[in-house]
Amino acid sequence: MGDVWVNGELLTEEDARISPFDHGLLTGDGVFETLLARGGVVFGARRHLERLARSAAILGLSVPPHGVLREAMGDVMKANGRTDARLRITVTGGPSPLGSDRGTAPPTVIVAAVEPTIWPPTTAVAVAPWPRNERGAVAGAKTISYAENVVALAWARERRAGEALFANIAGNLCEGTGSNVFVGIGDRLVTPPLSSGCLAGVVRGLLLEGGVAVEEDVPINALAAIEEAFLTSSTREVQPIDRIDGRPLTGTFAKADAAQDLLASHWKNSPDP
Ligand SMILES: Cc1ncc(COP(=O)(O)O)c(C=O)c1O
Repeated sequence: MGDVWVNGELLTEEDARISPFDHGLLTGDGVFETLLARGGVVFGARRHLERLARSAAILGLSVPPHGVLREAMGDVMKANGRTDARLRITVTGGPSPLGSDRGTAPPTVIVAAVEPTIWPPTTAVAVAPWPRNERGAVAGAKTISYAENVVALAWARERRAGEALFANIAGNLCEGTGSNVFVGIGDRLVTPPLSSGCLAGVVRGLLLEGGVAVEEDVPINALAAIEEAFLTSSTREVQPIDRIDGRPLTGTFAKADAAQDLLASHWKNSPDP
């Protein structure tokens, strides 16, 4: 996989060592960010680093200053000879006792860069039978406890879908396992509000600020009548949905195209908005 940055040091994957007692490994006590770089430019770095700090605050973790993490991302891309990369910053509770209590060791901080994921131009989605808990202690935080997402995505793949969508406890649309979701309702493009329990996605935020969509709760049953929808994430950017639970959508993808144009203009004019 190449070199990784661990606690301030650039190391080969073979030499990088995380304690078997790391609380992230033992309990999922940690937060992360996934970022996309093109031509050496990390898209939305400030927004990602601010969200990392917000997620860490929810868990009571501390994160290194922005400058340290920006430099680490640059160093790890350089060490791997990549200007285009999928970057991941992970901050965990560090070495700890074996239970839910965190120890007194400093957090573990890892920055890795791999090749960007190539996503299919469109995707099928399946609605997972398990809810997102919008009232949970870590709702809205990007924690490394992704086991629910792993199970839901595997479930979706068994149904030939590339992403699973979650409803929340209230029965409203929430998000995907690694994406936010936008649906066309009449003339409007709608995405669930943060109170649905979804992550405050960086791409989601840019589309809302750009005025192409509004926040609104969408009852999960309403998906049966949706004809246009797409997913967003930093690595997918805008990915139109072509099927929901096996039903083909007849939309034109016009709303997805407008959203993608807005992102493209950010890449061109203000990639770190
Ligand atoms: C659960 C979840 N929701 C939404 C997103 C999209 O967020 P962003 O646009 O910041 O990549 C992600 C990103 O991986 C995610 O994991």
